[in-house]
Amino acid sequence: MAKTKHSARASAARIITEVVQQKRSLNAVLAAALIPLPENERSLCQQLCYGVLRWQLQLQAISQQLVSKPLKKKDGDIAALLLCGLYQLRDMRIPSHAAISETVNACKTIGKPWATGLINASLRNFQRNQAEFEKNIEDQESAVYAHPEWLLQQFKHDWPNHWQQILSANNQQPPMMLRVNRQHHTRQAYLEKLQQADIPANEISACNEGVLLDSPCDVYQLPGFKEGDVSVQDGAAQQVAALLNITPNLHILDACAAPGGKTCHILEHEPNNKVVALDIDARRLEQIEQNTSRLKLNAELIASDASLVDDWWDGQLFDRILIDAPCSGTGVIRRHPDIKILRRPDDITNLAKQQAVLLEKLWPLLKPDGLLLYTTCSALKQENELQITSFLELHPEAEESIPDMPPAQRRTFGYQRLPGDDQLDGFYYACLRHR
Ligand SMILES: C[S@@+](CC[C@H](N)C(=O)[O-])C[C@H]1O[C@@H](n2cnc3c(N)ncnc32)[C@H](O)[C@@H]1O
Repeated sequence: MAKTKHSARASAARIITEVVQQKRSLNAVLAAALIPLPENERSLCQQLCYGVLRWQLQLQAISQQLVSKPLKKKDGDIAALLLCGLYQLRDMRIPSHAAISETVNACKTIGKPWATGLINASLRNFQRNQAEFEKNIEDQESAVYAHPEWLLQQFKHDWPNHWQQILSANNQQPPMMLRVNRQHHTRQAYLEKLQQADIPANEISACNEGVLLDSPCDVYQLPGFKEGDVSVQDGAAQQVAALLNITPNLHILDACAAPGGKTCHILEHEPNNKVVALDIDARRLEQIEQNTSRLKLNAELIASDASLVDDWWDGQLFDRILIDAPCSGTGVIRRHPDIKILRRPDDITNLAKQQAVLLEKLWPLLKPDGLLLYTTCSALKQENELQITSFLELHPEAEESIPDMPPAQRRTFGYQRLPGDDQLDGFYYACLRHR
């Protein structure tokens, strides 16, 4: 059997094709695809995948002008390789002669030497006439903002005064943020450790343990990462634990817990609290296990659909319930640009139904005077303030609990952080209490 050949560009083209054609998530494909690549090619491959998926609709609108006849579906990898070439020429600091020749060479690595002429001619044509090609797409809104039409219209509908700001934030490369383990260090002490390690960073004002790195780095370069001193987590997600008002001796349910970022943060506040961490996806539950074991924390892990309460609940009410609900992820597109490709308009209504079921089934598990926190990393109203408005209409015994420190922009109910506000991810938070 012929051995598959690898190079950053050829692998990126294959990965992008898998995401686009098979609708697989970039994270899932990337992790396995990077392994056979030489160490020095991995970062380039990753940059190409993220960059091309982020700008796909714009790059595609340009590539359509370069290729007279659309490529067949079975040559999706060559179409993706052309986008990789364009991305390098437009957005990366790679000398253009190297970008072109290496992209052309990747046709052979992919096993399609017939495409070398096409890629070479297209990229050189782009180089000669870039201004004209760019001008031709100026009136295509979906290409200009690099968002699918339906999502663009949805953002316009939900945020008539903010949609451009949201789309632009979604297309930025996200910063790397850390959560300092408060059981190990104060944030100030950890910032000093970072300084000693020559890793420039600052505190994130919106959260108590948050640190913003000037530039991303490998987690194993971070002082004390293996020992659990610190975890990677956006500041918007870090605001969740603070809203739960965690004190000792609480019984806490984290109903949609994997991969466990918030479970661990909750436990870092009070490691002796009894935390039940549930997720429907048993494989993702393993990630909670890995995180709790690195941080030396204990949670009771259960693989189950949280809404099937009879399957997993032992009958003891909870003081705190966190529903970090499955959602469209439209607040974190900058971190997961494949969301723009994988999500479909119907998904939003389906997700809203699942979220409503979770709220409905888990609300009765809350102790009187307990707190239920509903959060999403969505920027769409149907999953957020409209969801909570409907819930409160159906449940007169529930009321919104107003936190001392508003975590984000006030909405009719709850708080919305739009993507990029204060450099953080888009996020929604609503705290509910029994009347
Ligand atoms: C936004 S993610 C949670 C992120 C997590 N809280 C963290 O901070 O790391 C949503 C999770 O909900 C899980 N999920 C979806 N539907 C569920 C259900 N009915 N019951 C339990 N978990 C569910 C998904 O598998 C996914 O892991």
